Amino acid sequence: MPSSTSSRARRALVLGLTGLLAAGGLATASGTAQAAGGTLGAAAAEKGRYFGTAVAANHLGEAQYAATLDTEFTSVTPENEMKWDAVEPSRGSFTFSAADQIFDHAQSRGMKVRGHTLVWHSQLPGWVGGLGASDLRTAMNNHINQVMGHYKGKIHSWDVVNEAFQDGSSGARRSSPFQDKLGNGFIEEAFRTARAADPAAKLCYNDYNTDGINAKSNAVYNMVKDFKARGVPIDCVGFQSHFNSASPVPSDYQANLQRFADLGVDVQITELDIEGSGSSQATSYGNVVKACLAVTRCTGITVWGITDKYSWRSSGTPLLFDSNYAKKPAYTAVLTALGGSSGGGGTPDGATCTATYSKQEEWSDRFNGKVTITAGSSPITGWSTTVTVTSPQKIVTTWNGSPTWDSSGNVMTMRPNGNGTLAAGASTSFGFTVMKNGNSTAPAIGACTAS
Ligand code: XIL
Repeated sequence: MPSSTSSRARRALVLGLTGLLAAGGLATASGTAQAAGGTLGAAAAEKGRYFGTAVAANHLGEAQYAATLDTEFTSVTPENEMKWDAVEPSRGSFTFSAADQIFDHAQSRGMKVRGHTLVWHSQLPGWVGGLGASDLRTAMNNHINQVMGHYKGKIHSWDVVNEAFQDGSSGARRSSPFQDKLGNGFIEEAFRTARAADPAAKLCYNDYNTDGINAKSNAVYNMVKDFKARGVPIDCVGFQSHFNSASPVPSDYQANLQRFADLGVDVQITELDIEGSGSSQATSYGNVVKACLAVTRCTGITVWGITDKYSWRSSGTPLLFDSNYAKKPAYTAVLTALGGSSGGGGTPDGATCTATYSKQEEWSDRFNGKVTITAGSSPITGWSTTVTVTSPQKIVTTWNGSPTWDSSGNVMTMRPNGNGTLAAGASTSFGFTVMKNGNSTAPAIGACTAS
C-alpha cells in the first residue's frame, strides 16, 4: 500500500469499496476445478466412472449442501422430483419445475443426470390405479413419452421400470396397477416406448434386494437375458444397494454384478447407503466400491444423498458426510478404494495451491484484477500469494483478502480473509483495483503457498 495513506484510512477505503463491489457482484468466489483424485468425482473419473448422489431440490439453496455437491460429485439423481406423483400429479398435466431445478444445476456444472423413475408402483398418484387396462396402457406410454421427451438427449440413464419384482423366494412380479392390469408385458412395453422417446438415454431396470445372487435377482437376471435374446431394448441394470445390519453387503455382490454384465448390459450402483458408523461402515463402503471397480461394465456409483442430515434413513447415518458435512471414515474408505488421495481426515500434509489471474472490468484510469486460488489434491487451511504491479501503477483497494505491502508499495502479499479453508480442488478468489497512472501492464502473480 502506498505509504502516504494511513492504514486506518486505507482500511476504511477497502471496507467501503468491498461492500460496493460485493453488492455489484464483482467479487465472487468461483470455480470447482478439481485436482485429479482429490474428490470422489475426480477419483472415480480416473477409473472411467461417475460418482453421483441423490439430490433434493429444496436443499439446493443451502450453501454447504450445494458446495459439497459441486465439489465431490459428477452425477445426480433427483431423489423424488422426477417420480410420477411429482411430474404428473393429475392426468395429462405435467410439472417439471423442481426436476428442472436439479437438472439445470447439474447440467450447468457438467454433471450427468440419472432419470429416476418412469414406471413404479410407489409414489404413483391415485388416478393411475383407477384406470382400466387400455387407458392405463395409454397413460403409461404417454407418461414415458412426455417425461423423457422433456429431457430428450440430456439424460445419461433412465430407470425405466423400478422395483417390479417381489421380495422373497417366489421370483414373481410384484402386484401393481401395471402388473395387475397389463400383465408381465408392461415392462417390455415400457422399455420399447422409452427407446423411441429418447434413443440417447441408457435404459435401466432398477431394484433392491437384488444385490446378491438370490431368487429375486435370479428372476431379474432371467428377464434381462430374455430381453437381450429377443432384442427388447435394455442397456443397464441398477442395483439400489440399501444396506444395513439386517441386509449387509452380500459376499457375492461382485459376482452378481459380473453375471449381469456378462449378459451384455452395464451395471450401476444406483442408491447406495449403508447404515452404521465408523470403521465397519467404512469397510462396507470400501467393499462396494472395490466390487464395482472389479467389474468392467460397472460404470458408476450413486449414493442416496449427501449428508446424514437429509437421508431418507437419517437415524441410520448411512451416508458419507455427517450432519455437519464433515467427511466420515466411510468417505475416506470410498476415496481410497477409488485410488484417490485427499486424506479425508483433512490433514494439511501435502497442502498445495495454485493462483491464477484474470482481468475483470477496465476503465480509462483503472482496472480490476481477480486472482483465483485453487487447492491441490489435499484440503488446505491457509494460502498466500503476491501481486506485483508496475510503477507508477498503484493498487488502491482490495476485497476478499488481507493484504500486506512491501516498502515500495508495488508488491502486495495477499492472505485469506475468512476464505482460507478450501476442500481439495476447491477455489476461492480475491480482487483488487489497479490505478493505471498511464500504464496498463497486467500484474505479476507469485507462486501460491498453502498451509
Ligand atoms: C425414497 C426417497 O429417498 C424418499 O425421500 C421418499 O420419501 C421415498 O423414496 N427406492 C427407490 C427410491 O427407488 O426412489 C426411494 O427413494 C428409496 C427406495
